[in-house]
Parts: sequence; C-alpha cells; structure tokens
Amino acid sequence: MSSKEQRRRVGILGTGDFARALAKRLFFSGYDVILGSRKPEKKAMSAIDQCLCNVQLLSVEECIKSASIIFLAVHFDNVKELLTEHVEKLEGKILIDVSNRDRPSSVTSNAELVQKMVPSCKVVKAFNVISAYAMENDYNSSSKQVFIASNCEGARDVVANIAKDMNFRPVDFGGLFAARRIEKHPLRLFPEWRGPLGFAVGVFNAWLLYLIYIYYIAESKYQWEQLFVKVLNKAICMTGITTLSVTYLASSFATVFQIYYGTKHIRFSRWLDKWLKNRKQLGLISFALISIHVIMSVLIMSPTYFSSWYHSTEITVPVNLTAPFKIKQGTWMNWKGEAACLVGIIAYVVLCFICATTFPSVTDTLNWREWRFAQSKMGHAALLLSVGHVLVMGLPGWLSKPHLIYKSITFLCSILPWITLLLKLLFSLPCVDRYVMKLRKGWERHENKCRADCVRPVKHEGYVAIDMNAGKRMSCQDACACPDDKIPMMNIGGSDCDCASDDLVLNVP
Ligand SMILES: Cc1cc2nc3c(=O)[nH]c(=O)nc-3n(C[C@H](O)[C@H](O)[C@H](O)COP(=O)(O)OP(=O)(O)OC[C@H]3O[C@@H](n4cnc5c(N)ncnc54)[C@H](O)[C@@H]3O)c2cc1C
Ligand SMILES: NC(=O)c1ccc[n+]([C@@H]2O[C@H](COP(=O)([O-])OP(=O)(O)OC[C@H]3O[C@@H](n4cnc5c(N)ncnc54)[C@H](OP(=O)(O)O)[C@@H]3O)[C@@H](O)[C@H]2O)c1
Ligand code: HEM
Repeated sequence: MSSKEQRRRVGILGTGDFARALAKRLFFSGYDVILGSRKPEKKAMSAIDQCLCNVQLLSVEECIKSASIIFLAVHFDNVKELLTEHVEKLEGKILIDVSNRDRPSSVTSNAELVQKMVPSCKVVKAFNVISAYAMENDYNSSSKQVFIASNCEGARDVVANIAKDMNFRPVDFGGLFAARRIEKHPLRLFPEWRGPLGFAVGVFNAWLLYLIYIYYIAESKYQWEQLFVKVLNKAICMTGITTLSVTYLASSFATVFQIYYGTKHIRFSRWLDKWLKNRKQLGLISFALISIHVIMSVLIMSPTYFSSWYHSTEITVPVNLTAPFKIKQGTWMNWKGEAACLVGIIAYVVLCFICATTFPSVTDTLNWREWRFAQSKMGHAALLLSVGHVLVMGLPGWLSKPHLIYKSITFLCSILPWITLLLKLLFSLPCVDRYVMKLRKGWERHENKCRADCVRPVKHEGYVAIDMNAGKRMSCQDACACPDDKIPMMNIGGSDCDCASDDLVLNVP
C-alpha cells in the first residue's frame, strides 16, 4: 500500500480562498485531499500555489463520489445551485458546512438550511470561525477553537478528530440547532466591551465638560493651549478612578441584593448580572486610562504645571545693577508633591500586578485563592491607594477652605471611590460578613417561602416556571403557589418570554 493510500480521504467543494487554505492544511495534517470544481479543466491548482500540487482537482460529481467526508467551501448563496443535482450521491455522507452569514439570524442557520436541502446526508457546522489566513499560516494554533454542531453524534466525533489532527481545539456544541450561535460568532464585534466602553466615554465626557466649565467658563484659569494635556489629563485620571471604583462597587451591590432577598438562590437583576460580568473590561479600561494619566503627568511634571507640588521660589532683583546678576533656579518638590507621587506610583504598580494576573499564562499558574487575593484584595488596595493619592493632593485645600469643598474637583472625583471602600468595609465587619457567608453557603432567611415567588417578575427576567413532572409551563399564579420549591426554573432568554397580564404566554422554540 502506498503512503498516499494510507491517508484518509476528504473532499472539498469549491476552489476559492478558503478551499485552498483548507486543502493545504488538511494535506499537511495527513489527509488525501480532493478539490471539487465546476470547471476543473480550466483550473491548475499548482499554478496558484505550489503546495497544492499534491491535491487532486476533479469535478464536483467525482469529488462527491470519491470521498465520504466533504467540506462545502462555497458561499451559501451558491450552495443550492451546486448541490441540487447531487442530492442522491450525497446520501449518508458527512457534509461540513463552513459558511458564514453577512447578518446574524436567530430564525435559522445556513447549516440547517443545507440539511433541509440534502436531508439524506449528515450536515456538520464547523470551521467557519477560522479564517482562510489562519488556516493557511497559523499552524501553531492549538488554542484556536473550532465549534462543531450536528444532529449526528458520530459525525460530530469524526469532524472533531479532523480538527484535532489539524491542531485546532474542537468544541462540541451539540445539535445542528446550535449552528445559529456558531454562525453568529464571527459576526461579533467585541460585544462584551461595548457597555464598559460606552460607560467610560460617558463619564469622560461628563468630567471633561465640567472641567471646561470650571477652568474656562466660570473662571479663566488656563489658556486654551493647556486643554490638550493639562486639562485632558485631569479628565482622564478622573474617569480612570471612577471606572476603577465602579469595577469594585458591583460586588457590594450583589451583597446588598442577596441580603435583601435573604438567599443566594435568586438570579440577579439583568443590569446587575451584566455589571458583574463586565468587571474585567471595566478594570482593564480603568488601567488603560490610568496608564495614560501616568505618562501625561510624568511628561509635564514641572513647577509651572504643578505649582502647588513645588516650593515656590522668589527672586529679588536689586534695583541698581552694576555687575551681571546670576539667578540660580532649582526647585525641590514639597511634601505634597512627593507624597502624591509615591502613593500614586505604588497604586499603579499594584494595578500593573493585577493586570498581569489576567494574562492566561499567569492565570493558569494561580489557584483560586491566589487569583481572588490578586483581584479582590489587591484591587481594593489599589483603589485605597488611589484615593490616598487624591487625598494628599486635596486635603490641604479642603482644610484651608472647608466651605468650598463641594466645588473641589479633587473632592468630587473621590466621592464614588470612598463609597465603594466604605461599603466594602461595612460588608467586611465580622457580624455582616458572617451573615453574608451563611447566605453564600446556601442558608435562606425564608426557608419555607417558595423561591419561585422571589423570581416572580418572570416577564423581566426571561425565566419561566416549568412543572417537570407534567412537562407543562405554568402561569405566574401557579409558579408562586409552588409547593416545597420543587419547581425548577429554566432560562429561555429574555426575548422569548412574553408575559401578558399576570399569565405567562411563552414562545419557546
Ligand atoms: C487591571 C484589572 C484587571 C482585571 N481583570 C479581571 C479579570 O480578568 N477577570 C475578572 O473577573 N475581573 C477582573 N477585574 C475586575 C476585578 O478585579 C475582579 O472582578 C475582582 O474579583 C472583584 O473583586 P470583588 O471583591 O469586588 O468581587 P468578587 O471577589 O468577585 O466578589 C465578592 C463576593 O461577591 C459575591 N459575588 C460576586 N459576583 C457574584 C456573582 N456573579 N454571583 C454571586 N455572587 C457573587 C461572591 O460571593 C464573592 O465572594 C480586573 C480589574 C482590574 C483593575
Ligand atoms: N475566506 C475566509 O476567510 C473564510 C473563513 C471562514 C469561512 N468561509 C466560508 O467559506 C466559503 C468560501 O469562502 P471563500 O472565501 O473561499 O470564497 P471564494 O474565494 O469566493 O470561493 C468560492 C468558491 O465557490 C465555488 N463555487 C461554486 N459554485 C459557485 C457559484 N455559483 N458561483 C461562484 N463560485 C462558486 C467556486 O469554485 P469553482 O469555480 O472551482 O467551482 C469558488 O472558488 C464561504 O461560505 C465563506 O463564508 C470563508
Ligand atoms: C493608580 C494610580 C493613579 C490614580 C488612580 C490616579 C488618579 C488621579 C486623580 C483622580 C487625579 C486628579 C486629582 C485632582 O486634581 O483632582 C490625579 C492627579 C494627578 N496625578 Fe494621579 N493617579 C495615579 C497615579 C499617578 C502617578 C503614578 C503619577 C505620577 C507620578 C500621578 C501624577 C498625578 C499628577 C501630577 C496629578 C495632578 C494632575 C493635575 O492637577 O493636573 N498619578 N491622579
């Protein structure tokens, strides 16, 4: 048996960018590849790419006949035209749909439509999340995931093995229904960053407008030229500290929520859930803003820009000068400048450490306790030091003019960080902490009360009560009257739950 015969055979329909990249990758992963083209006689693969000289180029029909595993590497719009003549020949074969959509759809997926076109074959959705470039160039990509969905479990396993052979990481998504999610994946554009970025931009604009009002409209403190660094630096660092506090405020809200309901077995409101899930992005945005602030501050660090941080120098020029008069000017920082720098630098180093722990290579080396220590304890320490940095700057002014404290931007930007730290302190008090820990270990204040009652605002939560025994959905009244909390809750996604009056009307797929 020749070495070529020992290779497993796969077919690829299409000879475009993705088909060629796939063919190369499959060949180098030990597969015998056949490309199926509408006009094989007019194409010379080796002329396009030398690496493809080992790949056979046949007609679509011959390609389908020769292989039991076939990749469908054509645009979805052309699939129907391409497959109509070959429906019978595809019977029992594994057909891998790699196509992507231009717009997301929650109604159906390309793969489900392909399965309808050729019901006799096992359609598998896979590889659509890998670009032709990555397929061709990124051979060391074992962290790249390939999402796989098919109604045939055996076919999913076969495709998962092919993905592994190609040095990708297969992820089984189950039935072909999941192709809807898989096809949405390449269309995502940093969805988890949108909320946090929008928040940071909003806060930045609010601070900047306030600073412009204070420095240029209410009084003329600076020239317009100082807008680009001096004033912008202030707006950036104030947004940075606000975002940092918001990152650490979320868990206090979660604690208040759990104390209020007396249980942890209740889903947070959607806004709180989103807030908790967005803390990583909020933390990283605050880190980026503070880094910009540090760079800007260091660049403009001088007695001219920060007069209150330096000892003032007064030079008296004699009236009747008969000889050259030398002026030596060297100004040392005062205690305020030095202390603010020191505390700021320590705070920044702590933030850098927290940031480093989010790199996967570092995260993997930490256990849960170490991760929590770095993120939670050190995070609060960084916030405390940041507040200290601002306090050192503001305190002398606040003490000398306490009646004007509400006008101080230094004071205004430290209100939220103070609230965050005080709430953390309050929930760390032994009596409160013990109670919260009890709740988090599963204890409930109203053990005889039905949990479904707590989750009652179903129409807002996207939750629905289901009687598992009867297998039917229940009205709100039924859910609230559930005996012994035996009614499980199932998340069906907000948009699918439509509650009219007090009864649930459900559009569950
Ligand atoms: C530079 C930087 C990088 C960051 N990187 C990350 C990151 O990679 N990943 C990340 O998650 N955060 C990250 N953060 C955000 C932040 O550091 C962490 O979320 C940190 O764990 C928050 O600590 P915490 O004490 O406020 O809350 P936690 O330690 O999360 O929570 C305190 C308590 O609240 C309860 N609680 C919190 N959330 C829930 C919940 N969803 N359900 C039930 N109970 C809950 C828990 O019982 C917990 O004991 C980063 C922050 C910064 C500044
Ligand atoms: N490019 C990527 O990075 C990438 C990444 C992930 C997924 N995908 C998916 O892979 C599929 C192919 O993408 P591609 O970039 O390789 O596209 P492409 O370069 O345009 O190639 C498409 C191929 O389809 C074949 N085809 C069959 N019927 C056709 C028809 N009626 N009209 C035109 N061509 C027809 C053609 O080959 P013959 O002329 O030889 O028949 C053509 O070479 C798409 O579904 C895409 O969504 C692409
Ligand atoms: C975690 C780190 C830091 C945070 C959160 C932070 C935050 C802040 C905030 C909110 C202010 C505004 C105070 C005000 O004027 O009302 C400020 C001012 C300032 N910070 Fe920082 N800072 C940090 C680190 C640093 C570092 C490392 C330096 C540089 C050594 C620095 C230098 C300055 C300077 C010079 C000002 C005065 C700005 C001005 O008045 O225009 N900061 N900082």
